[in-house]
Amino acid sequence: MGQNRTVANNPIVGIIMGSDSDLPTMEHAEAVLQAFGVPYELDIVSAHRSPERAVEYAKTANERGLKVIIAGAGAAAHLAGVTAAYTTLPVIGVPVSSGAMSGLDALYATVQMPPGVPVACMSIGGGRNAALLAVEILALSDPALAGKLDEFRREQAESVAKKSKRHGRQG
Ligand code: RP5
Repeated sequence: MGQNRTVANNPIVGIIMGSDSDLPTMEHAEAVLQAFGVPYELDIVSAHRSPERAVEYAKTANERGLKVIIAGAGAAAHLAGVTAAYTTLPVIGVPVSSGAMSGLDALYATVQMPPGVPVACMSIGGGRNAALLAVEILALSDPALAGKLDEFRREQAESVAKKSKRHGRQG
């Protein structure tokens, strides 16, 4: 695929997006995968501007070793849906906020898949949760990753407890 694609050793998660303007949102997903040590690849694959490329990406994903695909797009966001149509790998969709409708269009386009072709749709701009869900799926068959998730949840709860200590008050 793309010359500029970031390729890890044997990536198991594919992060794709419709345009480089989606990068600031999708880099949140990348950061999570890096933090968990999950090998990934990242690429620009537009369902509308490069439809053959999108189909090729989805069709070859399984044989290339990917286990989960995260697809982000804005506006008339069909990337996650088209990808899901061409693979039985789990596809996680991220509606990206862009243009006049600020992501509501992308949310509807991503979430309203017909029965038979599921996409796990995140919130608008939900790149971080997309990667966490990917990690949860992978952790089902990877005890070390499951341990990291438990640790992540512990730290997250601790940070709330710290905020409570700092800001909790009575009036
Ligand atoms: C979508 O259109 C892309 O996913 C992006 O969110 C939006 C705008 O794309 P650009 O015009 O910034 O390339 O297909």
